[in-house]
Amino acid sequence: MNNVRPESMERIQTLAQAQAFIDAQIAEVRAQVGDKKVLLALSGGVDSSVVAALLIKAIGKQLVCVHVNHGLMRKDESENVIKLFREGLDANLIYVDATDRFLNLLAGVSDPEKKRKIIGAEFINVFADEARKLEGISFLAQGTIYPDILESIKQAEGKKAVKSHHNVGGLPEDLQFDLVEPIKLLFKDEVRVVGEALGLPHAMVYRQPFPGPGLGVRCLGAITRDRLHALREADAILREEFDNAGLNQKVWQYFVVVPDIKSVGVRNESRYEGWPAIIRAVNTTDAMSATIEEIPYAVLHKITARITNEVEGVNRVLYDLTPKPVGTIEWE
Ligand code: XMP
Repeated sequence: MNNVRPESMERIQTLAQAQAFIDAQIAEVRAQVGDKKVLLALSGGVDSSVVAALLIKAIGKQLVCVHVNHGLMRKDESENVIKLFREGLDANLIYVDATDRFLNLLAGVSDPEKKRKIIGAEFINVFADEARKLEGISFLAQGTIYPDILESIKQAEGKKAVKSHHNVGGLPEDLQFDLVEPIKLLFKDEVRVVGEALGLPHAMVYRQPFPGPGLGVRCLGAITRDRLHALREADAILREEFDNAGLNQKVWQYFVVVPDIKSVGVRNESRYEGWPAIIRAVNTTDAMSATIEEIPYAVLHKITARITNEVEGVNRVLYDLTPKPVGTIEWE
């Protein structure tokens, strides 16, 4: 399969079309891989999850998935990946909790691009360390999708990105594998239909985008464990309340940001200094520009009450009304 989507390729919109695609890919992957082993970095995002489910169907235990927890995942995220793939799909899955490696390297680093670089590079280091421990791996599977290919063509033409988004790729010389990229000609909406046809849970297939550096770019400035913990708890409350209010169907991306500032508050009749939790909820079609969703006050009140009552260290909740441009979607 080359890197250009043929004009004759139909847009995959129905489960029947997705099934035909899956059947064709299963045959193609089996022919490519034979009885060899394939390695996959499984983040739990839509793309890598769809590739994992597809390859499990095609080659079963010949697929070795590695899930690296960089300590910047959302609440329960790694646990859910393990549950779904190990228990649900009987995947050959290696779980690596690399929280300390990442957080130690990030300690004291406040520049967003430096943080991204550290996270991206360390991700490759951890993944490469795991790959070296394994024997007989011949292929590397990746959840590359068609917009990634179009984006790299743009960058090769010299257009500059505003932020450096990271992917696996760039593995060291001693770990050069042949690539298996079964969804590389698909657009995101097609990947989701394929995911549904593979039987992945709806919530996973339609989950909102989550950046590679994870909560690392939402715990603003130099990351500390206590502020990261507060951010994770506040974010979980926001997501739960958006689910309850049906806003998860209406808002493209929503999350909490916790800056490194403290203000004075009062709790239990005493002075209580804490961080603000900032809510960001945006709608967009292509992430290049974004508008602000009007969230009902009742929902914002409930979220505010819950976060300020339940999250240690947070004493205010703010709602970011800035569209993109001028603000980017993430704060860093
Ligand atoms: P911005 O902040 O640039 O975000 O308006 C646009 C979209 O990209 C996501 N984003 C990232 N994704 N690595 C990623 O994989 C990153 O470093 C990164 N930074 C931003 C962001 O969540 C939004 O969906």
